[in-house]
Amino acid sequence: MTTKVISARFDLPDSHRIETYVAEGGYNALRKALGGMTPEEVIEEVKRSALRGRGGAGFPTGMKWDFVPKDNPKPKYLVVNADESEPGTFKDRVILERDPHALIEGILLGSYAIGCHQSFIYIRGEYWYLIDILEQAIAEARQRGYLGRDILESGFDLDIVVHPGAGAYICGEETSLLESLEGKRGYPRIKPPFPAVVGLYGCPTAVNNVETLASVPPIILRGGDWYRSLGTGKSGGTRLFAVSGHVRKPGVYELPMGYPLKKLIEQDCGGIRNGKRLKAVIPGGSSAPILTAEEAERATLDFECLAELKSMLGSGAIIVMDEDTDIFKACWRMTEFYEHESCGWCVPCREGTRWMSKIFERIHCGEGRPRDIDLLAELSNNMFGRAHCPLGDASAWAVEPAIRKFRGEFEKYLRPPAKVAAS
Ligand SMILES: Cc1cc2nc3c(=O)[nH]c(=O)nc-3n(C[C@H](O)[C@H](O)[C@H](O)COP(=O)(O)O)c2cc1C
Repeated sequence: MTTKVISARFDLPDSHRIETYVAEGGYNALRKALGGMTPEEVIEEVKRSALRGRGGAGFPTGMKWDFVPKDNPKPKYLVVNADESEPGTFKDRVILERDPHALIEGILLGSYAIGCHQSFIYIRGEYWYLIDILEQAIAEARQRGYLGRDILESGFDLDIVVHPGAGAYICGEETSLLESLEGKRGYPRIKPPFPAVVGLYGCPTAVNNVETLASVPPIILRGGDWYRSLGTGKSGGTRLFAVSGHVRKPGVYELPMGYPLKKLIEQDCGGIRNGKRLKAVIPGGSSAPILTAEEAERATLDFECLAELKSMLGSGAIIVMDEDTDIFKACWRMTEFYEHESCGWCVPCREGTRWMSKIFERIHCGEGRPRDIDLLAELSNNMFGRAHCPLGDASAWAVEPAIRKFRGEFEKYLRPPAKVAAS
């Protein structure tokens, strides 16, 4: 049995209602913070917890909040990234649906820490059915004095606005998200300046993922050291893993950082379905380089181990592929996704994803030339690090490591069709 932190209330009846949340000790972390902690102390506790962002990049949350300049006279904003658009990722959805008050309390703590009085939840358009749940939770919190003016008579004010996106993957990238929230087209901004200094409406802004924020209340309540001790020294706590693909029991699992990937697949998820063997795993959403079965066997689910394997923990979305999976087709499908979702602003990403798609199609049609596989790898290598935002890197990572590790799967499409004997 592993400690449940984020998913502790998921299975309670009416888990989304404030009565349930409060009965389970909800909003006590807020009381503790507003009642006797300075914003700096909140940030210190989060730093001590070794909480790293659950949205993709894994940036230390306490440090991100510390970067928001306190002496800047402009308003500060905390923007919640609920775009959840990375292929394979479906864990924020469960928090939004079953425990929205954990997110609201996390937003309150983060806002208090950075001095924000107006927060925004940018939620993916396809999650329209979750907006009512969020709005209801916000209204409940306001009615009980956890939101609005003079929260718990502390003098601290905060309001939250829910803003739906329109279904673009690029708007999950934090600066495109801010552009979209400002009512503009979701093009990524050049960094630096980082949002912490010049963010929403040109003001200091922290952008945080849903799960990151929902992890903060237990940290404040039980201490950063406790949270850190649940995971590895550098990757603190537990996190939600969204497991999909060819396992018997796909779903969302909360596990401590450093948990063996093999154990997750074989024990928690019941193994590969239909008694098949494992071929490959994508460990952090489609943007994370693919692992072979042998690599997956020795991988642990923490930022450090996956970086050593030249992949990443990303959004915690684990896509499991059995021996029957056509890696070529899986890569082609992902490339088509990136081609479709490229915002078109920069040449390497706009042209690169398009050309890769075309080459995949050519190979699949049986018209591939022997050098096409190397051409795909070369294109992908040329895109890496040259695009305006990490979407270009993500599309490159979906291709080159797969060619390097599963070249035979690509070459089989180049074989001449078998001769049919003339009758
Ligand atoms: C193309 C692209 C899509 C992204 N989509 C998401 C997303 O859907 N949700 C998310 O939380 N972060 C997403 N990110 C990461 C965000 O840019 C950012 O790192 C994150 O919101 C920071 O929050 P965190 O520090 O709490 O993880 C995406 C990044 C890229 C490059």
